[in-house]
Amino acid sequence: MQIDYQLLEKSKQKQPITSVKGVSFGSIRTNHMFVMNYEDNEWKNPRIVPYGPFSIAPGAICLHYAQEIFEGAKAYMHSDGELRLFRMDKNAERFNHSAAELMMPEVPVELHLEAAMRLIDVERDWCPNEPESSLYIRPFMFGTQDSLGVKISNSYIFCIMVSPCGPYYPGGFSKTIRLLITEKFHRAVSGGTGTAKCGGNYAGSLKPAAYAQKMGADQVLYLDANNRFIEEVGTTNHYHVLKDGTFIIPQFSDSILKSITSRSVLELADMGKVKARNERIGIDDFIAGVKSGEIIEAGGFGTAAVISPVGSYVFDNGEVITVGNGEVGQYSKDLYKLYTDIQTGKTPAPAGWLQTVPRY
Ligand SMILES: Cc1ncc(COP(=O)(O)O)c(C=O)c1O
Repeated sequence: MQIDYQLLEKSKQKQPITSVKGVSFGSIRTNHMFVMNYEDNEWKNPRIVPYGPFSIAPGAICLHYAQEIFEGAKAYMHSDGELRLFRMDKNAERFNHSAAELMMPEVPVELHLEAAMRLIDVERDWCPNEPESSLYIRPFMFGTQDSLGVKISNSYIFCIMVSPCGPYYPGGFSKTIRLLITEKFHRAVSGGTGTAKCGGNYAGSLKPAAYAQKMGADQVLYLDANNRFIEEVGTTNHYHVLKDGTFIIPQFSDSILKSITSRSVLELADMGKVKARNERIGIDDFIAGVKSGEIIEAGGFGTAAVISPVGSYVFDNGEVITVGNGEVGQYSKDLYKLYTDIQTGKTPAPAGWLQTVPRY
């Protein structure tokens, strides 16, 4: 499909920022975005246009019934001055999984990737060139049909925007977070929308996250609806590390978002670069493991931070348990270094993990 360019004149463009130091995640906007429309059962009018508001009907289905999905990926500036996408084909595939869950049309993976690369090429000066910084890529899609009846929208907007972001841990990850283990809230249930990256899942996570904060925690570690197994954290998958250095990631189920970071760690394990497994974890066994010292480290896996190390857990009754000595462990530090070195080109990436953004 021919992508139309409707670019701002140079003189009307904002200048790219020169440093992302101290900039909060996702707060910066660039000059352009990619947009296309779905109507009459097909994608139409793919274009790169100045970043700005959409015009949608007040009755648009996304505003009432949350028919909306999104993704989050990153491009990195490598030392040769080229921009490389990190596994964004996996994001585009997961986007279509989310689309299927929400009865939305697929976006062909090739078109999704070309749209992202053409937009990034236009905005390439916005990609930070500081250690571990990146250009965050946010594709999203929402139903626009004007209807107050609950139904599948017959029209959609697909958009990609980008935002320069700094290293998640400017000083290295020296601080651990605390998670709340609660039986009061659940993120998703079997048969629900947990595997989709849809806005509704995140709207529903705001109240539990506020409760977690009231309990002195940074986020919630969600259990399955029967409070027996560990599922995931509000914005990341979960992992723990056994004494022998093996990373254990809860078995992917139909209520867990299949993290690309977790899957990449499991693939690195298949390549012999790290020890990791995906397995069902009973919450009682987990707590016993933390208390006995069998579990020595824990944390979250996700695109934004790669690794969010966990130092302790708090329960609904206020009891706190500490993992290891509560500090960031060596296995987590080593994996963080390996992973970010792959992303930034300091160590060779497995075949197909990086895709160079062409100069169109
Ligand atoms: C609920 C949830 N789980 C897990 C993840 C991590 O997924 P990924 O590694 O693909 O970013 C995210 C973030 O995208 C998330 O929002």
